[in-house]
This record gives sequence, C-alpha cells and structure tokens, in this order.
Amino acid sequence: MTTPKVTTVGMGYIGLPTSAVMAGKGIRVNGCDVNPQVVETINAGNIHIVEPGLDELVKNSVEAGHLKVYGEPQPADVYLVVVPTPFNQDHQPDTSFVEAATRSIIPILKKGDLFIIESTSPVLTTEKMAEIVFSERTELKEEISIAYCPERVLPGNVLYELEHNDRVIGGIDETSTQKAIEFYRLFVNGKLHPTNARTAEMCKLTENSSRDVQIAFANELSIICDKAGINVWELIELANKHPRVNILQPGCGVGGHCIAVDPWFLVSDYPEHAHVIRQAREINDYKAEWSVEKILATARQFEIDHGRQPVIACMGLAFKPNIDDLRESPAKYITSKVVAEARGEVLIVEPNIHSHPSFTLTQYLQAYEKADIIAWLVNHKEFPIINKDEKKIELDFCGVRK
Ligand SMILES: NC(=O)c1ccc[n+]([C@@H]2O[C@H](COP(=O)([O-])OP(=O)(O)OC[C@H]3O[C@@H](n4cnc5c(N)ncnc54)[C@H](O)[C@@H]3O)[C@@H](O)[C@H]2O)c1
Repeated sequence: MTTPKVTTVGMGYIGLPTSAVMAGKGIRVNGCDVNPQVVETINAGNIHIVEPGLDELVKNSVEAGHLKVYGEPQPADVYLVVVPTPFNQDHQPDTSFVEAATRSIIPILKKGDLFIIESTSPVLTTEKMAEIVFSERTELKEEISIAYCPERVLPGNVLYELEHNDRVIGGIDETSTQKAIEFYRLFVNGKLHPTNARTAEMCKLTENSSRDVQIAFANELSIICDKAGINVWELIELANKHPRVNILQPGCGVGGHCIAVDPWFLVSDYPEHAHVIRQAREINDYKAEWSVEKILATARQFEIDHGRQPVIACMGLAFKPNIDDLRESPAKYITSKVVAEARGEVLIVEPNIHSHPSFTLTQYLQAYEKADIIAWLVNHKEFPIINKDEKKIELDFCGVRK
C-alpha cells in the first residue's frame, strides 16, 4: 500500500495516540474533533489527556506537519472513527456518536477509500453504518472498503501497545478485510488477524465480558469468604496452585469505561441469552453496595463498642491501582455513599490526584494515622507499605494486606 492520507474522527484517549503513532511513522494525519478546545490544544503541539510519552510524540508530529486537527473531517484515503460509545440510563448502547461521525464523512468519501470503525460497538454496527453510507452514496457500493478494528490498549502503556498488540480486523467483505490489514501493517508490528466485521465487534465485547465474568467470580467468592470467616486472598492463592485454575483477584467492584460498560452491549442486544454476562455485571455492581454496607455496619459497631463515632478513611478513588482515572470508579461511588451516610468524619484519600471538585482530599499517611476504620478501596502502591497499627480496624476490599 502506498502511504495514504488519514483522517481520524475523535481525538480522545484512543484517537489521539493512534494518530500520533501514525504521524510518527510519516503518515499524514488530519484529526477531527467536535470539541474546539481539543482542536486548539493539539494544533498548539500540546495534549489534553495523560499518557506517558504522548506529549513529545504529538509535539514532534505537529511541528513536522504530519498531524493537524480540524473541527470538520478533511478529505483523505483512510477514515478512522474513534468516537465514544457510552450507554444510556437503561444500559442500552448509544451509537449516535458513531452514526454522527459516519454521516460527517459520507459527503467526502470517494472511490477506493477505506472506512474503519475502531469505537467499541454493538454487533452489526459496522454493517448498519455501511448501509447508511451506501443509501446516501449508492454509486460507492463495492467501490469503497469498510471494516471494524477494535482497540485493546492499556492506559499508561498505550504507545507501546498500539504498535505491538495483535489486532483483530473484520471487513464487511473480503476485500475490505484485506485492505484494512494492509493499512494497519503500516504502523502495527503485532499480528493482524483477519475475520468479518461482526466477529471483530463481538471479539471486543467478548474480551471485556470475559474479564468481567472472571472478576465477578472472585468478587462472589470474597463475599462468601467473608461470611465463612476465610481469608479470600489466601484461598485464591491456594486454589491457583491447581495447574488448571486461575482465579483473578477480587476488588470493591469493577470500574473504568470498558469492562464495566461493554458487557451491557451484549446484555441489551441478547437479553434472553446473556445470563452469565448480566449476572456478572450485577455481582460486580453489587460488590460496591456490599462494601458500603460493610463500612457502615463496622462504623455502627464501633459506636456501640466505644461510645463515639469513628473516623473512617476511604483509601483510594481511582478505578484501578496507580492511575488518576476515576471514570465509573466503584471506589469513588463507595466513598460518596459513605460520606453521605456515615455519621462521623470521613477522610478521603487518592494519592494520584491533587484535588477533586466534590471531595476534600487528605494525605494518605495522615488519614491512616487519624482514622479508626481504614477501608482499603484501591491497592495503590503507597498503601501496602504503611505499617499496620493493630489498634485500627482495617477493611481490606482489594488485597492491600494479603
Ligand atoms: N480509552 C480506552 O482505554 C479505550 C480502550 C479500548 C477501546 N476504547 C473505545 O474507543 C472509543 C473512543 O474512546 P476514547 O476513550 O478515545 O473516548 P474519548 O471520550 O477520550 O474521545 C472521543 C473524542 O471524540 C470526540 N467526538 C465525539 N463525537 C464526535 C464527532 N461526531 N466528530 C468528531 N469528534 C467527535 C469527542 O469530543 C472526544 O474528544 C470508545 O468506543 C471506547 O469504548 C477505549
């Protein structure tokens, strides 16, 4: 494939690093974002998200003239749709962003172009978008290629994984699959696995649902172990000595914008059949409720035993260890419930952020020192090395003391 001109629609956590990696390989990328601040920031050679190494790469790409961002999609040879796919109140996926992005590209499509959706999407979305494209531009039928290629990068290691992870690539027909594979070969060193569009869509949802179900198993075990007076961390370590058993670690729920969201796409489209997947989502959500109740019940017992209200420390707000991302975080949810319902003082700790619009933060050692009840919500690297004070009541929801 000769080096194509690329337009990326959606310059967020995935669209920007992907564009920067392509631009870094000398591919001419025109980004497009509906948020004018995003456009302005990137064109000034800066970034609006936190990701190691990305600032340098974006700055160099903008300065070299390989990356420029606009408010409208610019004509190109390859189009990448990387816009959000949230769910609404009833857990129904909202594909309106993908549709809006697709419609914004339709007028500038030409014969021979390649149109790729990367946004996590319900099964059949790519085929539906193809129908929209061909209903508006009938002359392009069989003249352009359309494919789906999901992203599976780990925030914090995005630049490495964008280049080195294997990718699943599914076209609406064989030519589309092959053309998309040729395109990704320009900047991905990982293996490229061909399939069809709906299998590629399902693959992304399967990966995250699989993680969710396995974590739900660990979370359910943790509740059973609490009732049975068994240390769940020791139990899992022992069970995992079996050569064919690999139980994941429990936590205070499941958060983030992928694992806690994507399984609902399958549940909402296949409600009659997605039993385990739905149950896992519910168990993982329930684990956060259960954790709130455990903290409040411990506080009530403390009051009975000591004749005063305890100081509670909620340790961690992020959705997983050692990051500053609070999106869909069960720890944040638990903390806000405890703040609303506890009668005594609640100290809030998150070592990875400096301030928060709704919470007053306390330094983690001070909080440990001052609190009577310590609720470990996230296993940040700072926490396990705090010396244990036997006078404190510690509630370990995430294995800090395992
Ligand atoms: N963030 C991750 O770790 C991750 C990992 C794998 C997959 N995904 C998937 O990738 C997709 C994008 O996620 P993200 O985290 O990059 O989202 P994001 O919210 O960080 O970025 C999306 C960007 O798209 C822009 N946008 C929205 N509608 C637009 C339109 N019609 N035209 C142009 N720009 C538009 C927004 O302004 C925003 O800047 C989602 O489907 C997500 O599920 C994300």
